[in-house]
Amino acid sequence: MFRIQIIHGPNLNMLGLREPGIYGRQTLESINASLGQEASNLGVALSVFQSNSEGALVDCIQATFGHQDGILINPGAYTHTSVAIRDAIAAVGLPTVEVHLSNIHQRETFRHHSYIAAVAVGQICGFGADSYRLGLHALIKHLEIKHLEKKT
Ligand code: DQA
Repeated sequence: MFRIQIIHGPNLNMLGLREPGIYGRQTLESINASLGQEASNLGVALSVFQSNSEGALVDCIQATFGHQDGILINPGAYTHTSVAIRDAIAAVGLPTVEVHLSNIHQRETFRHHSYIAAVAVGQICGFGADSYRLGLHALIKHLEIKHLEKKT
């Protein structure tokens, strides 16, 4: 059974209330519940973490080492600023999928650059809460392929 760490960055705890025209009306709790349902259907184990603090996010990423098989992360605004989060992902070396609710490439220019993209398997953005579900599927598929490659 694959073990996947879901990580939500700053202000994502405000989903539902926060700029609903951009991020939708779904709360983080309901996104996590849907992911939990999806994970049990797919037979993977999820751990979920949210923090507004960069250091706490780095600690969570470091703690995945030896305990998780992959990371699904929405780094929120730290996407565009955090070398520390990028370095933590590179340090643990786990397959990581970056997700965003909004299409960051359609928004302000400061959101176009992601420090995380270069260390991620890939990025999914612009599908609202569904970005997480799509990202989970993409990560599992990637882990399955890696697993098969190891066997042969
Ligand atoms: C976000 C996009 C970021 O630019 C923003 O700072 C967020 C949310 C998204 O999910 O669309 O907090 O990561």
